Amino acid sequence: MSSPEYLYLIAKPVGRETELIRAESLALTGTWPDELGIAVSNRFTDTARGAYVLANVEILLSVSSKITLDLLYQQICQLGLQGHNFCVRIIKRPKKIPLSFDQFEVANQIGVRIDGPANLSKPEMEFWLIITPRRFWFGLKRSISDKQWTHFNKRPHTTSSSLPSRIARAMVNLTVNPGDRLLDPCCGTGTILLEGANMGLQVFGCDLNLKMKEATRKNLAHFGLSGAVVLADARQISSTTFGHPFNAIVTDLPYGISLVKDEERDRQILANIRMLAPRATFVSVRDLSQDLENLGYQIETIVQVPKHDRFVRQVFVTRSVSG
Ligand SMILES: C[S@@+](CC[C@H](N)C(=O)[O-])C[C@H]1O[C@@H](n2cnc3c(N)ncnc32)[C@H](O)[C@@H]1O
Repeated sequence: MSSPEYLYLIAKPVGRETELIRAESLALTGTWPDELGIAVSNRFTDTARGAYVLANVEILLSVSSKITLDLLYQQICQLGLQGHNFCVRIIKRPKKIPLSFDQFEVANQIGVRIDGPANLSKPEMEFWLIITPRRFWFGLKRSISDKQWTHFNKRPHTTSSSLPSRIARAMVNLTVNPGDRLLDPCCGTGTILLEGANMGLQVFGCDLNLKMKEATRKNLAHFGLSGAVVLADARQISSTTFGHPFNAIVTDLPYGISLVKDEERDRQILANIRMLAPRATFVSVRDLSQDLENLGYQIETIVQVPKHDRFVRQVFVTRSVSG
């Protein structure tokens, strides 16, 4: 039997977050999305953690959308599917694709070709028919994004320099593996740590500012999440500050008004934390590439995330080179 293939539904790669959408798709699915926001891969990833990678469907059938509906039903029937409290959903990409048929009738016709009880209000299994201009993809939904960033954006403690939660989640996805120990050495109100803790990672944070450290602690507690947060200077922390080594660092470097002074502070932070984890991702409003290379970081990817024309965040995904 051939190994299963998965279709990932991804946020449409358009607009200001296009580069981040594409980077997250590559990190989670191993492949780029097409212009409709679809990626097909034989890698399985649970998309509950996805920021822009929204759903994973195990492909059972892929056929040209030029075939007749009767032929489509026949091929689905030949799969001999067994369902239990299942439903059939129709997904259109693009959303406004014109259809020459009633989509609810199609869902119904597919449903009668699957054995077992249907349950439209509380389904335990969902079969999805994804309709695109060129193909019908039919499969079993395996996972969807929990979209938890929408709640984290409404956390009790936040500041004007806080990172949007969806961007924070994508940065974590570009960096970590399941089970990692994640450090944010400039944690602010904890945007990055909330995402990491929600994914089941062990999270650790520090901030120089007591108010910020407390904000992170309270935000984590507000959502019933745990993490170790201390008052500390990222220029001085060491692997003994938390008593454990880390697998990954993700951080949003401080923004400041005095460029020269701040650049020096950033360099000191980057130099001090370099050996604390083998993988690190930084976001900054200035180009860190020269500093990172001088300090021995190996840059894997740089992703531009413009907020508007005059404010562009740059995400640097790196690996540490020893020595
Ligand atoms: C851009 S903010 C982080 C915002 C955070 N990602 C959030 O969403 O709330 C940078 C943080 O770095 C902290 N900071 C500045 N210098 C620091 C240092 N030397 N060590 C640790 N934290 C520092 C600031 O207090 C600030 O909270």
